[in-house]
Amino acid sequence: MANPFTLGVASGEPMPDGVVLWTRLAVDPLNADPLRPGGMTPRAVEVRWQLAEDERFTQGLRQGTIQALPTWAHSVHVRVAGLKPGTDYFYRFRASGNLSPVGRTRTADDPAAARPVRFAVANCQRYEHGFYTAYRHLAAERPDVVFHVGDYIYESRQSAAVVRPLGPVPGEVSRLHEYRLRYARYRTDPDLQAAHAAAPWVSTWDDHEVLDNYRGRGDGSAAFLRRRGAAYQAYYENQPLRVRPQNGNLQMFRRRTYGLVADFMVLDVRQHRDAGSMLGAAQEQWLMSRLLTSPVRWRVLVQPLFFARRFVPGPPPNLRPDSWDGHQDQRARILSANVSGLVVFSGDVHNFWAGDLKADFLNPASATVGVEFVGSSISSRPPQTDGPAVLAANPHLKFFDDRRGYLSCVAGPDELRVAVRAVDFVDRKGAPVQTVAEFLTKGDGLTSENTSSK
Ligand SMILES: [Fe+2]
Repeated sequence: MANPFTLGVASGEPMPDGVVLWTRLAVDPLNADPLRPGGMTPRAVEVRWQLAEDERFTQGLRQGTIQALPTWAHSVHVRVAGLKPGTDYFYRFRASGNLSPVGRTRTADDPAAARPVRFAVANCQRYEHGFYTAYRHLAAERPDVVFHVGDYIYESRQSAAVVRPLGPVPGEVSRLHEYRLRYARYRTDPDLQAAHAAAPWVSTWDDHEVLDNYRGRGDGSAAFLRRRGAAYQAYYENQPLRVRPQNGNLQMFRRRTYGLVADFMVLDVRQHRDAGSMLGAAQEQWLMSRLLTSPVRWRVLVQPLFFARRFVPGPPPNLRPDSWDGHQDQRARILSANVSGLVVFSGDVHNFWAGDLKADFLNPASATVGVEFVGSSISSRPPQTDGPAVLAANPHLKFFDDRRGYLSCVAGPDELRVAVRAVDFVDRKGAPVQTVAEFLTKGDGLTSENTSSK
């Protein structure tokens, strides 16, 4: 067999005692044959995995075998347990005589630990819009964990202006083999592979993993649910998730806790949407009870959509109905819980933003009840946005920048620091990264430091 590790390796879902290891075999990743995703013959392949405390695989070696099945596009998800908390590990795979690259992963901290957690937040990586240089820089930081807040792929037809072509099947994808091929295209990128190999990831999806702006069960037709099920299956096959899809659904909302410091509550703002509810009743109940009971310093919502009110001056709609501004009652219930250390991370809008969360967004004198940081995009182009005008119309918003990049963060027992890391171009390789702003919060609103934004 030719090298089957063309899509790289990954790990994810860190817990204090374990992680998930992932790879997907693909000898010919851009093979468009519906019956041979990744160019693989439709039969099971035995994959051997190894995990150790050192890169030469001599300390504390654990290993096993798992079957890569055609049913799951020859992806494997190895749940390794019994590991030490807050510890780096290295892993690799072997299949048909080929050895994969080595990945580095890390378990979550001990539940009683108060050690700072270093994490990155990324989102929106439309392939044809540019190079993933930001991921190369993110990988070099080797964070404890990476959160991805959606638009990992774009299902859309290839854009008119292309930095690099999608290759086979450049139209809108809607069937299982097409979603699989789109993931393979994205996953062949060496910078994305480097970011996955550098740290465990915890991902949630937005709309483009299925269909632009879809909500819940869409129009309820069998055709839409079939499409959604295919997209969810391909998502699972290409992410280091702990749970697999069942009956066309995939359980996504979950928490990942780092000691006494941070409780990351990862939200699903698409699958459970129905009239008036962004999260659905069950997810909201889970979130509210966890917000009120978790014994940690920082309660962090990890989710795709702009959370604060954002009034955009000009022609209506001035508030985006697809975002939290279209679900103000549910947002108000979350904010009125008035928990300490509330932090929201979001993405979706392809520009960086930061601001305070207010008890009443229309009253600047009302209490500040949390902070929000909005990641820009790894490569996706931004819409035309008059940042200064939006800042002026929304006094709780403090920062705007229109470059591509990611957020680099440290949550500690006393303070949370967020650095906005930006690259100046993605239409060619090699952009350097710079910190264009740095924010500090002790739990009562934002303080900005070293801000050198345009
Ligand atoms: Fe996006």
